[in-house]
Parts: sequence; structure tokens; C-alpha cells
Amino acid sequence: MSDTKARIAVLVSGGGTNLQAILDAQQRGGLPSGEVALVISDRPGAYALERARTHGIPAAAFSKKECGGQRAFEERLAEAIDGVGAELIVLAGFLSILSEDFTRRYAGQIINIHPSLIPSFCGAGYYGLKVHEAALARGVKVTGATVHYVNEIPDGGEIIAQKAVNVLPGDTPETLQRRVMEEAEWILLPQCVEALCAKIVRRRG
Ligand code: GAR
Repeated sequence: MSDTKARIAVLVSGGGTNLQAILDAQQRGGLPSGEVALVISDRPGAYALERARTHGIPAAAFSKKECGGQRAFEERLAEAIDGVGAELIVLAGFLSILSEDFTRRYAGQIINIHPSLIPSFCGAGYYGLKVHEAALARGVKVTGATVHYVNEIPDGGEIIAQKAVNVLPGDTPETLQRRVMEEAEWILLPQCVEALCAKIVRRRG
């Protein structure tokens, strides 16, 4: 284990473009204080797992159902995270809700990316395209992305960083999702990950 890099576990459920943004940052030297040590998916077929394997990063997949419930699922998650000594846990399109026990155990160590400017269009039921559908239905002219700490309240933890993105005439949920990813998520998330890893490394002294 490198003393100059914080180890990162990335939790995913789907395509993994945010995971890719972190891996790309790592590859071009934009993540000098961290290294992705593990990728875990709660869906065995998630394309994000392929992205991890392409980069030679250990990847595991197990669902809540397969584990026999929330508690056993979280125990397995914790075992995997602690097994690689991860100090930062990044939820990058991870759709399982984590319990208070789990978020307390890793308090201050779990962050999430959400595709809106919290407190708009967030909380239970707001994920993926649904967030952009809601933003368009409300008629907002500006949306964006938020990186925040994770606590027991869905999308309720302390905000770390936000980036605004314009909504354009004629936008569909899909075009808006893509613009929010390109102009906000894929920039903001790797920047926050590096900043937090640098802090972890500094704390070690
Ligand atoms: C991203 O837009 C992410 O912000 C969102 O799901 C998408 C995952 O895409 N997350 C949420 O909605 C969480 N509430 P990806 O798998 O390509 O990174």
C-alpha cells in the first residue's frame, strides 16, 4: 500500500461513466493522491464492472437479494472495503440505499454524486433519468450536479461541491443528462475525489 496515496473503493450499479471519469483522471495524472483499489457493483451485469477490469482493478458484484438482506449485504460490502484498506468510498451511480449503521461506521468517508443541484430534485426516488425528467417538468433553467457526504438521509449529507449547468430549449431528459454529465459530473467528481484523498494523505502526516 502506498503511503502517498489514499485507497478508494468505488460503488456502482450501472454504466459507470463516473467511474470512468475517475479512472481517466488517474491515468492522466489528475489523481496524484489516490488510487482506485476496488470496484463493487450491486448488479452483476453492470457495465461499470467491465470498465474496472479493463483497467486491471479488482471488481466484485453481489446483490442484496443474493446476500440475504440489507445487513448481510452491508457486511459483505464492509469486508470487501476493509479488505483492501479503502479510506474513501465513492458512490458513483450506486442505487442501493445504505443503512444508518453503515453510514455511521464510515462517517465522513463516503461521498456520492447526484445529478441535480441539491436540495432540488433529490431524495428517495430521484435517481438517474428521473432527476432530469423532474427538472424539465418543473421548468428550471439551471440544473447541475452535487457531490456530498453520505449519511442516513438519502442525498441529505453535507454538500462538498456543486456545478451548475444550463437547461436548453428542446432538451429531453436524455440530452440534459448527457450535458450534466459532460459539463459537471465528470469534472466535479474526480476533482472532489482528489481533494479528499489529498486531505487523507495529509492527515497521515
Ligand atoms: C449519474 O448521472 C449519477 O449522478 C446518477 O446516476 C448516473 C449514473 O451514471 N446518480 C444518481 O442519480 C444517484 N441518486 P454512471 O453509471 O454512468 O456513472
